[in-house]
Amino acid sequence: MHQAVLLEETIENILTNPAGIYVDCTVGGGGHLSYLAERISRDGFLIGLDKDLDVLQRTKERLAIDRLLLIQADFRNLQSVLQEHGIDYVDGIMMDLGVSSFQLDEAERGFSFHEDAPLDMRMDRSQEFSASNLLNTWEEASIAEILFEYGEERYARRIARAIVEARKKRPIKSTLELVEIIRGAVPARYSRETHPARRSFQAIRIAVNGELDALKAVLPQAVELLKPGGRLCVISFHSLEDRIVKRYFQDEARSCVCPPGMPICTCNHQPRVQIITKKPIQSSTEEVEQNPRARSAKLRVAQKI
Ligand SMILES: C[S@@+](CC[C@H](N)C(=O)[O-])C[C@H]1O[C@@H](n2cnc3c(N)ncnc32)[C@H](O)[C@@H]1O
Repeated sequence: MHQAVLLEETIENILTNPAGIYVDCTVGGGGHLSYLAERISRDGFLIGLDKDLDVLQRTKERLAIDRLLLIQADFRNLQSVLQEHGIDYVDGIMMDLGVSSFQLDEAERGFSFHEDAPLDMRMDRSQEFSASNLLNTWEEASIAEILFEYGEERYARRIARAIVEARKKRPIKSTLELVEIIRGAVPARYSRETHPARRSFQAIRIAVNGELDALKAVLPQAVELLKPGGRLCVISFHSLEDRIVKRYFQDEARSCVCPPGMPICTCNHQPRVQIITKKPIQSSTEEVEQNPRARSAKLRVAQKI
C-alpha cells in the first residue's frame, strides 16, 4: 500500500471550501484523494489526474468516491485537460510528486533497483522514450550530466563511462544489469554506505519522464486555474523540485520583478499569490519512522490572491 505523505497537513491546507472543486494532479494510490473526499461536502467535486493508466485503473477499482472524475493525463497539460471537461476555475490543486509504491512494486515497470526487469521507467507507457533508449543511445556526457544533476550522484562520470563501455559490447537490457555496471564503477565502500544504484535510478526516472519540465509547466497553469482564496499544495521529494516550487511562489508573490538597480518600477507586476508556508512543512519524526520515504518530503502552499 502507498502511504500518503504529509496527508493531514496537505488536506488541512488545501481545503478552504467544503463545497469546492479540487484537483489532485497525482492520484497514485489515491491516499490524498480519498482523505479529501471524506472532508468535502456533498456539493464538493473531485478531479484526479495521473499519467499512468495502470495506476489510475487500479486506484479506480479500489476507490468508492462519488462526485469524482478520474482522467489519464499528464499534469503538464492541466489547464487544457480541465477545460475539455468544462472546468475553468477550481478551489484547490495538489501534487505529490515522484513515483508511487504501485509503480515501484510492479517489478516489470523497471523503477526498482531490487528487481530484475526491462529498463523501462516510463510512467506513461504510451510514451516511446524509455530508460533503455536513454542508456543505450545518449552520449556519455549527457548521461553523466543527468546522473549528477538529477541524482546528485558524485560518481556520475565514472558511472556514465561504465555504461558506455558496457553497451559497446551489447545493449544494456535489464535493471539488474545496470545495477551491476554501476556497482562495478563505484568504490566498494560506496556500496556499503547506500545502495549504489539509488541515485542513478532516481536520475534516470526523472529524465525519462521529463519530471522537472512537467513541474515547471504546471505551476503557472495551476495558479491561473485557482479561484481567489484557492490553494496550491505541492509535495516534493527532490531539492531541484523544491527549488522550482519555492522560486515560482516567490516570483508570483512579488509586487515588482524589475531587474535589481532599476530606479523606478516599470514592470507593473501584480502579485498573484500569497505564500502560506514561509518554510516548507516537513514530516514529523513519527511519520518518518513509519514511512522512510517521508524523510525528504517538503510541502509548500500558496494561496491565490
Ligand atoms: C507519489 S505518487 C502519488 C501518491 C498519492 N498522493 C497517494 O496518496 O497515493 C505520484 C503519482 O503521480 C504520477 N505522476 C507523476 N508525474 C505526473 C505527471 N506529470 N502527470 C500526471 N501524473 C504524474 C505518477 O504516475 C504517480 O502515480
